[in-house]
Amino acid sequence: MGISFLPSPTFLGFLLFSFVTLSLHLEPALAITRHYKLDVMLQNVTRLCHTKNMVTVNGKFPGPRIVAREGDRLLIQVEVPIIFGEWFNADPEAVINQALQTGGGPNVSDAYTINGFPGPLYNCSAKDTFKLKVKPGKTYLLRLINAALNDELFFSIANHTFTVVEADAVYVKPFDTKTLLIAPGQTTNVLLKTKPHHPNAKFLMTARPYVTGQGTFDNSTVAGILEYEVSHNTIQSSHSTKKLPLFKPNLPPLNDSSFATNFTSKLRSLANAQFPANVPQKVDRQFIFTVGLGTHSCPQNQTCQGPNGTMFAASVNNVSFAMPTTALLQAHHFGQSKGVYTPDFPISPLIPFNYTGNPPNNTMVSNGTKLVVLPFNTIVELIMQDTSILGVWFMHCHLEVHTSWGLKMAWVVLDGKLPSQKLLPPPADLPKC
Ligand SMILES: *[C@@H]1O[C@H](CO)[C@@H](O)[C@H](O)[C@H]1NC(C)=O
Ligand SMILES: *[C@@H]1O[C@H](CO)[C@@H](O)[C@H](O)[C@H]1NC(C)=O
Ligand SMILES: *[C@@H]1O[C@H](CO)[C@@H](O)[C@H](O)[C@H]1NC(C)=O
Ligand SMILES: *[C@@H]1O[C@H](CO)[C@@H](O)[C@H](O)[C@H]1NC(C)=O
Ligand SMILES: *[C@@H]1O[C@H](CO)[C@@H](O)[C@H](O)[C@H]1NC(C)=O
Ligand SMILES: *[C@@H]1O[C@H](CO)[C@@H](O)[C@H](O)[C@H]1NC(C)=O
Ligand SMILES: *[C@@H]1O[C@H](CO)[C@@H](O)[C@H](O)[C@H]1NC(C)=O
Ligand SMILES: *[C@@H]1O[C@H](CO)[C@@H](O)[C@H](O)[C@H]1NC(C)=O
Ligand SMILES: *[C@@H]1O[C@H](CO)[C@@H](O)[C@H](O)[C@H]1NC(C)=O
Ligand SMILES: *[C@@H]1O[C@H](CO)[C@@H](O)[C@H](O)[C@H]1NC(C)=O
Ligand SMILES: *[C@@H]1O[C@H](CO)[C@@H](O)[C@H](O)[C@H]1NC(C)=O
Ligand SMILES: *[C@@H]1O[C@H](CO)[C@@H](O)[C@H](O)[C@H]1NC(C)=O
Repeated sequence: MGISFLPSPTFLGFLLFSFVTLSLHLEPALAITRHYKLDVMLQNVTRLCHTKNMVTVNGKFPGPRIVAREGDRLLIQVEVPIIFGEWFNADPEAVINQALQTGGGPNVSDAYTINGFPGPLYNCSAKDTFKLKVKPGKTYLLRLINAALNDELFFSIANHTFTVVEADAVYVKPFDTKTLLIAPGQTTNVLLKTKPHHPNAKFLMTARPYVTGQGTFDNSTVAGILEYEVSHNTIQSSHSTKKLPLFKPNLPPLNDSSFATNFTSKLRSLANAQFPANVPQKVDRQFIFTVGLGTHSCPQNQTCQGPNGTMFAASVNNVSFAMPTTALLQAHHFGQSKGVYTPDFPISPLIPFNYTGNPPNNTMVSNGTKLVVLPFNTIVELIMQDTSILGVWFMHCHLEVHTSWGLKMAWVVLDGKLPSQKLLPPPADLPKC
């Protein structure tokens, strides 16, 4: 389960802009101004033989690529981004709204996608296949992003090995693996060394989920193709590349926990003499958070589809977060937290248990809009079971469904003494009620 301080991307946020012009003014030496005209528009997109009217950028799904130059540095080499996603034939907003209403699990997706394409293993999708073209004898930096809402994914490319060098914006001790495991919202940079010579073959890249729970899940497999470019001086006609043999990778079984444990145990900070990890030795506040999946009782007037007729709820220290109707940052800034949130988030689980043993079966969780308030510059040690800036910071599970069920909390960091340590006021055009 991936947990971070990043807000989850709100796709529909794009709808706020009907038209955006983005100019990047670049300083100093090569003062280039790049103008991008981005039209955010509703457009019919067809996948799996289902046409949906959805938000696109410049009418494309996935949207166009933006290339930028930073300061006076060299041109940033295009990293090859690989974004995993999910395709729902239904309207995803309707799916989550229905689940929250009934208290059951949300309907699962119909396909996974790589850069928006489901690939040849799905009905009606062979033409919608992501192709990664590479040259022999090179090392590529692949930037992987798991934007699938609810699934940890295994990913592998036939006959190739990855070297993992970074995870979630932190360098790791490099290690080789044939298969990656990537959690929702997680990013990782890996090196892909291509074969020294054109292999006269094509290679499938596939991804499918790692799941241990009992609920239903999308157990399908997304595929793309790794193709070697034919150099101009090689006598090989384009139609002969079509007939090249295609190799398939072997992914671990859907429930392969020993692979998952082995993989995650290899993610270690780069920390060494040259790049030391300077961890504060003295802490001001200590917290232990446990995360759990539980239930709320069903409202009297309703039938619910969660376990034994209840509603699913997820919690941190047994508190399932209830979303306020007033923005937390706004309430904090104007000193009007009363009725919006309470500063009494528990610093440790109510009932301590063996955190490395079997967790207790505690199903009924409480709910509330509870936060932790910290003075400016507090050094915090947070221990999470399984696993300083001003303002209000959401911390939530990256499995979208767990977040919807309340697996989140927030921290309030108070202003410091200096003028530069004060929270800036909201923009003048903040809507007032
Ligand atoms: C999008 O599809 C709908 C029905 O699927 C159709 O009525 C509509 O005309 C299409 N719009 C465009 C711009 O193609
Ligand atoms: C979810 O799946 C059920 C069963 O297949 C279906 O009846 C329902 O309409 C689906 N919900 C949405 C929002 O598509
Ligand atoms: C794929 O197509 C076949 C034949 O048209 C059909 O029987 C099958 O149900 C389809 N599978 C899915 C997942 O839609
Ligand atoms: C790919 O791997 C398969 C199975 O390990 C092997 O038989 C095949 O020769 C390999 N092909 C290439 C081009 O590396
Ligand atoms: C995926 O799930 C469906 C429905 O539960 C099942 O029929 C199918 O065998 C599963 N496929 C795999 C590869 O596990
Ligand atoms: C994984 O799934 C297989 C087939 O469904 C089952 O036989 C096996 O016991 C499962 N393994 C674990 C560790 O749950
Ligand atoms: C863990 O991974 C290493 C290297 O990939 C492998 O040699 C070892 O057998 C794996 N261990 C388990 C328990 O899977
Ligand atoms: C119970 O449901 C009925 C029908 O949906 C509705 O009219 C009524 O107001 C509900 N009662 C409560 C207490 O929510
Ligand atoms: C299911 O709910 C019923 C009624 O609320 C209760 O009597 C029963 O003990 C529950 N069963 C379990 C396994 O929790
Ligand atoms: C929180 O719990 C109270 C009491 O059980 C309930 O009335 C309320 O609807 C719950 N709120 C949410 C957001 O679940
Ligand atoms: C906690 O559980 C683990 C795993 O079962 C066990 O090895 C350890 O001895 C337990 N610790 C205590 C204090 O009971
Ligand atoms: C936890 O309790 C629920 C309800 O009492 C029961 O259905 C479930 O099997 C229990 N799970 C475990 C792991 O004991």
